[in-house]
Amino acid sequence: MTLKERCRILQFDDLGDERGKLVVIEGGESIPFEVKRVFYIYDSDASVIRGQHANVESEFVLINVAGQSKVRLTDGLEEFIVELNRPMMGVYIPRLIWKDMYDFSPDSVLLVLASTHYDGKEYVRNYEDYLKKMEENRKWHV
Ligand code: TYD
Repeated sequence: MTLKERCRILQFDDLGDERGKLVVIEGGESIPFEVKRVFYIYDSDASVIRGQHANVESEFVLINVAGQSKVRLTDGLEEFIVELNRPMMGVYIPRLIWKDMYDFSPDSVLLVLASTHYDGKEYVRNYEDYLKKMEENRKWHV
């Protein structure tokens, strides 16, 4: 599967009516995991790059519920850039994908749904270490 196929763009249903829009995300149904943690990132300006890590255990869904940002995803071989700019779309990020979030608009609120509770030990924060780890993984999976 290509990186783009693994990091799926998700389109959520709009249950809105004349009173306004409503988006519902059910763990294990509209996204591929049960949600254990929610956090959101705002007040990051256009010059900031966040993320810059990969997670060994966690899966994520990223949604810009307001404003916009970009996320660059890589597995060390392929790269996929997603523009998050609608509250009804998200991107699913499986384990072991390196992610950089950037180009935040001033009104950006980036909502993150995670499959795990926070554990700093499952983060790979050094890109060289990440590339080595992915290289090792690939050796075992050919
Ligand atoms: P960091 O991973 O740098 O955020 P981002 O991926 O958005 O760039 O996290 C910033 C700080 O917040 C860091 O000290 C770890 C802490 N943190 C938690 O305690 N729990 C969490 O769920 C997250 C995402 C971060």
